[in-house]
Amino acid sequence: KIIVLDFGSQYNQLITRRLRDFGIYSELLAHDISLDKIKEIAPKGIIFSGGPNSVYDDHALTVDPKIFELGIPILGICYGMQLMSKDLGGKVEKADNSEYGRADIDVVDQESLLFQDLPIEQYVWMSHGDLVTKVPDGFEVVAKSANCPIAAIQNQAKNFYGVQFHAEVRNSEYGLDILKNFAFKVCKAEANWTMDDFIEMEVANIRKQVGTKKVILGLSGGVDSSVTATLLHKAIGDQLTAIFVDHGMLRKDEGDQVMQALNKDLGVNIIRVNAQERFLNKLKGVTNPEQKRKIIGREFIEVFNEEAKKLGDIDFLAQGTLYTDVIESGTNTAQTIKSHHNVGGLPEDMHFKLIEPLRKLFKDEVRELGEKLGIPHDLVWRQPFPGPGLGIRVIGEVTEDKLEIVRESDAILRDEIKKAGLDKDIWQYFTVLPGIRSVGVMGDGRTYDYTIGIRAVTSIDGMTADFAKIPWDVLGKISTRIVDECGHINRVVYDVTSKPPSTIEWE
Ligand code: XMP
Repeated sequence: KIIVLDFGSQYNQLITRRLRDFGIYSELLAHDISLDKIKEIAPKGIIFSGGPNSVYDDHALTVDPKIFELGIPILGICYGMQLMSKDLGGKVEKADNSEYGRADIDVVDQESLLFQDLPIEQYVWMSHGDLVTKVPDGFEVVAKSANCPIAAIQNQAKNFYGVQFHAEVRNSEYGLDILKNFAFKVCKAEANWTMDDFIEMEVANIRKQVGTKKVILGLSGGVDSSVTATLLHKAIGDQLTAIFVDHGMLRKDEGDQVMQALNKDLGVNIIRVNAQERFLNKLKGVTNPEQKRKIIGREFIEVFNEEAKKLGDIDFLAQGTLYTDVIESGTNTAQTIKSHHNVGGLPEDMHFKLIEPLRKLFKDEVRELGEKLGIPHDLVWRQPFPGPGLGIRVIGEVTEDKLEIVRESDAILRDEIKKAGLDKDIWQYFTVLPGIRSVGVMGDGRTYDYTIGIRAVTSIDGMTADFAKIPWDVLGKISTRIVDECGHINRVVYDVTSKPPSTIEWE
């Protein structure tokens, strides 16, 4: 196990992720962790993450300097290297020019364990305002760049290393190899950790935390809450009750598929609440997208609350919060473009303790975990789907008739995309029903009917996106089927905007 101490960099969890990918268990821990706790964990190595501060700031994050006497190898990244240098007697100064982005470094000591078997010249990702200007006693410089004469340092005798650049990001050419060298050559860690170990560990944690008490969970039908439910079920069986609020705006057959896989096949205790009418009633006459989102989110919590109360005394609420959710909700500078709704928002008048077993994981790790737990491949690898569901894909007022058109056209689109073998290449694809009607001709008659919009994008994380270039013949087939099979559609259009300036969803 190698631990990562958190000094606030946005990449800190990525470091733990990389190590897990190498097969080494890793966790992100607070920078002020006690030495006793570290001794108890007995890691093979410690990594200091980067961070936004300067080591000289009043509120700079620090570490107990006795950490350098434990005899455990340490790698400092960016701020981490500056902190190590300062604590051990080196010098850190404000750089004349802050450096953000790609930089070319030269490795000056190829014997260094950190850079062993790697090319002398390589590019890295720099992002810093301060620089180490003098290395501590016992250290030497192992890499330099034009703007950063001390780009990497080492004290081989003590197994202390530092890199000024972010080795954990893909924009550092050999960054992963550098981390691997630290893990395997310096720390002599072994690659023997797997997702099965994670399951075993979390199951034990959950059992310890919950004891004989009861847990509820809001199941949305999405991947994260489904995996959380299944993991909890494995740990505590029927002490878990999942409440599946079916708001009637899921994709075609989705609710039944979730019930089949989780409840019937895996035995998770699920109460399905058919609240379709309730949601539709609340949405009657409402056309403003933000208002629709808020109503759906609020109603969700209300239904969940009512069901939870019926269950009597419950101590814990489980949520499928992922690492990325933690980051996104952690920024208070970002502007609200759309108020996102995630299922199971904590009901205010109930005081549960939270269980969030996926908090350390990235989405693709959650999917791997889901498959390991026995959830079918297709359910686990579904494309992202918004909490408010098809409710924000019917533009304007939501009615059951319109939902039905979106549900059917979406099912046709998904079917054809899969048949064309494009489902792995396109990040998200769906249909929307804008409120417009237009004139068409069918048979010998005039029609005045709805338009369906097709939205398909490629993206890495949903923050930016390009419209997908679906071949014309596939689009043609989709269009024909939608008009033939859905009813009340006489026109199909393809959305060719990227994000920005558009967003992925239309509302
Ligand atoms: P936008 O439309 O903002 O969407 O470009 C970016 C990604 O987020 C999804 N999305 C949501 N996910 N709750 C969610 O969990 C929501 O309220 C929500 N709204 C949008 C959207 O499908 C896309 O993947």
